[in-house]
Amino acid sequence: MGAWAAQTPMAVPINEVESAVPHYTLPEALTRQNGQRITSPQQWPRRRAELVSLFEEHVYGRIPAGLPRQPGWIVETRKDALGGKAIRQRIQIPLSKGPHPILLDLLVYRPAAATKPVPIFLGLNFDGNHTVTAETDIPLARGWVANRPRSGVTNHVANEGSRGSDAAAWPIERILERGYGLATAYYGDAEADFDGGWKQGLRGAAAAGGPEHRFQPGDWGAIATWSWALSRALDQLQLDPAVDGRKVAVLGHSRLGKTALWAGARDTRFALVIANESGEGGAALARRFFGETTLRINTSFPHWFNGRFKDYSHRVTDLPVDQHELVALVAPRPVYIASAEEDRWADPKGEYLSGWHASEVYRLLGKDGLPGPDYPALNVSVGESVGYHVRPGAHALTAVDWEFYLQFADRHLR
Ligand code: GCU
Repeated sequence: MGAWAAQTPMAVPINEVESAVPHYTLPEALTRQNGQRITSPQQWPRRRAELVSLFEEHVYGRIPAGLPRQPGWIVETRKDALGGKAIRQRIQIPLSKGPHPILLDLLVYRPAAATKPVPIFLGLNFDGNHTVTAETDIPLARGWVANRPRSGVTNHVANEGSRGSDAAAWPIERILERGYGLATAYYGDAEADFDGGWKQGLRGAAAAGGPEHRFQPGDWGAIATWSWALSRALDQLQLDPAVDGRKVAVLGHSRLGKTALWAGARDTRFALVIANESGEGGAALARRFFGETTLRINTSFPHWFNGRFKDYSHRVTDLPVDQHELVALVAPRPVYIASAEEDRWADPKGEYLSGWHASEVYRLLGKDGLPGPDYPALNVSVGESVGYHVRPGAHALTAVDWEFYLQFADRHLR
């Protein structure tokens, strides 16, 4: 069990031995609930719609109808950011109605040298916009933030010392040099990431009963809420004439990789979807008993998914979907899945296989996905419209991952 046994303080069975993975049977992406087989591209949209509603109903929860989609306002534009390499904007997007709306602070960098609208990567960050860059003039995250050795936060309040603490995950200058923009926002702006965080967040603002609200089993969880915020950030980017709004790649790491996948699955305006080490509830197959399980994630992070998902904690084989079908919802748009060798908790092989099983949908739609079921070597990027790499090392979004994403984006967005 090794190092990751430390992650399982609860009495929840966890397997991390490949030879001990029991046989499992996946639901078929190309078979409708009524048993009808999908054999032509023309039939896919109906299956796609069915899968979206199955994921809403059983996993992530339904986003309420009628939520506002309001334009944001530019708070600041700096034409001399990063030593003149970037045009930087700070934009506030109101996610809820009323005089004191929930605000999403979008931080946007564009290459100063660009002469035409740029493709852009959009991703939520874990600790606040002030942590993705060492620049000293980005306001600290306003609300609750996680306590973390990396950021030096111990009281859930962002502090000056945490500036740039997550900059390694966001190689902004490199992204700009390659001709892309980068837009990011703190996920906690939409909802603080703890059980009960919804009360001060968008789910609370949208709930009829306010903080006393009782959610129905099919109602949205936090991942759906964060994914909604990504779509509102996309609305905003599409209003910017300096951004190529048809070339917005959505990216996320870990829980935010789960979020990026669900955003890209729901919202077909995202041109490319990247899930970095998204694991359970992200790209990893739920039925493959390796690493984190449905029971474990529902126990540790009950707020991420909807109420009904808890019904499957002890009977994952009854789930009407599995995660390869989430990946397939991106088709025919390009999707990229990435793993880290030591990140067994996220089940690297289960992440790969999910891309492989999604590939039949890509083929039906005239695209090539992953080359086959065999797990690839380290540091090699494989696949066409479904891309994948596994790099050495631990759970993180790194400069190495970004190099693969930039190459993949060059292929698909240029
Ligand atoms: C935990 C959780 C994972 C999640 C990860 C992260 O390890 O179990 O599902 O992906 O946190 O978001 O870093």
